[in-house]
Amino acid sequence: MSEIIKWQSPSNIALVKYWGKHGMQLPNNPSLSLTLHKSYTEMSLNYEPSDGLNVELYFDNERNTRFEKRVSDFIGSVVDVFPFLLNHKIKIETTNSFPHSAGIASSASSMSALALCLCKLEEKVTGTEYDEAEFFRKASQVSRRGSGSAARSMYGAYTVWGKTSALADSSDLHAIPVPEVHEDFKLWRDAIMIVHSGVKNFSSTNGHKLMQDNPFSEVRYDIAFENVARMVDILKAGDIESFMDVTEKEALMLHAMMMTSGRGYFEMKPNSLNIMNEVRAFRRDSGLPVCFTLDAGPNVHILYPTSIKDQVIEFVEDRVAPYCENNYWIDDVIGSGPQKLLV
Ligand code: PMV
Repeated sequence: MSEIIKWQSPSNIALVKYWGKHGMQLPNNPSLSLTLHKSYTEMSLNYEPSDGLNVELYFDNERNTRFEKRVSDFIGSVVDVFPFLLNHKIKIETTNSFPHSAGIASSASSMSALALCLCKLEEKVTGTEYDEAEFFRKASQVSRRGSGSAARSMYGAYTVWGKTSALADSSDLHAIPVPEVHEDFKLWRDAIMIVHSGVKNFSSTNGHKLMQDNPFSEVRYDIAFENVARMVDILKAGDIESFMDVTEKEALMLHAMMMTSGRGYFEMKPNSLNIMNEVRAFRRDSGLPVCFTLDAGPNVHILYPTSIKDQVIEFVEDRVAPYCENNYWIDDVIGSGPQKLLV
């Protein structure tokens, strides 16, 4: 008899970036992110006993052999943690809340959703019972092995992954929630401007690898360690000026690493730059707390507190959306983490 487990898990955007890794997906520096609300993966896992491990994957109701290969490889790589997988047939059905071709990295939301389903499957099949904290810690640890940034999607609001002297419980193995967040940072929003919806020039796997020979990598890691510690203090103190300063520098530094890695490559597009200039001009002219960050691609995330939503949306519609593909952008907000839909 087959049974179903179902989770919804969000994407996240790093404010202090993870770029460079070693060993089994261990980060060369800690990172800190904001969990999103509207950008998520919904995944159901249907399982039944079988002679060997067998994985089938349906994305948007259609069998997807490319994703199936990635997920099978990942599942095959975690049989040391979940040996029972070796005699189960697993059918995964998955969808994302954001359009397939929006150019938004879905690895954080999808790998975290998969890790949550696998941890729940472990409880069901083996009778193990985790308390809530242990459950999410384990899911974070497992998802890290699929995609480093996925480890941070396990918790709401702000999350740190990687050992930092600023937080005693932090670890390279899994993420933890940032324990103290000032009221002024609790209701932030993220306008995700879709500059380009195609595939990135370089996969993040290659990007991480190229950091090994980047001449600035050691300096970058040192700065990231400092920035995570600073950001933990900034979030606690409610220091919005410093938040914007660190966030923008981190985005630009990530792309500077790409431009100085290997033969040098660009993930930004001219319109990414146009948008970042617009954000800075708007901040200067209005005096409002609005800043930008970038993921590894060309899309620009505009971050701001909910209290100034009307002014920012007007600015985004008038001056920024015209730089986006088909004027497309996603009006997202800080989220509260994964949700159990069916277990
Ligand atoms: O999780 P990965 O291996 O796809 O790496 C993601 C790295 C960045 O998205 C560029 C930064 C981050 O910390 O999320």
